[in-house]
Amino acid sequence: MIKYSFFLLIASSFLLQPTASQPNCFLDNKYAVYIVSNLPPKSPPLQVHCISKDDDLGHHNLTQNVEYRFAFCEIAFVTMFSCRFRWNGHDRGFHVYDANWDYNRCRSAGICYYVVKSDGFYFTNVYPPKKVGFLCGWNPSSKC
Ligand SMILES: *[C@@H]1O[C@H](CO)[C@@H](O)[C@H](O)[C@H]1NC(C)=O
Repeated sequence: MIKYSFFLLIASSFLLQPTASQPNCFLDNKYAVYIVSNLPPKSPPLQVHCISKDDDLGHHNLTQNVEYRFAFCEIAFVTMFSCRFRWNGHDRGFHVYDANWDYNRCRSAGICYYVVKSDGFYFTNVYPPKKVGFLCGWNPSSKC
């Protein structure tokens, strides 16, 4: 009986892991989204709010260079996370991951690494990041 309970404890500690931290999924459908503020020091914090169809990841205020991360297992054609970013009077949202993208920018390594700067959003799918490329500006008319 003791052995059995111990087994259950181990089993449940695997099963009950929150999907937002370290999901167990097939390697090729595991993704991690990182959001990092590279905004000027002493400017207001970056306010981030990310949601999927089922999950609300809550409001986070990011100070400079702190990596905000969440991870998930992709469900083909279904998984979509969008985030709303607010900073210094700017306000825009876009899909940070979308299983229906024509071109999946995170695909090769399962990494979606977004860096937010005063002129907009930069991206790489390499972790740790080496070089980020400009993705889009703060103005909602520029496509992300
Ligand atoms: C984030 O900052 C804003 C503006 O300073 C504040 O209104 C809000 O309550 C903060 N949110 C969190 C989650 O700390």
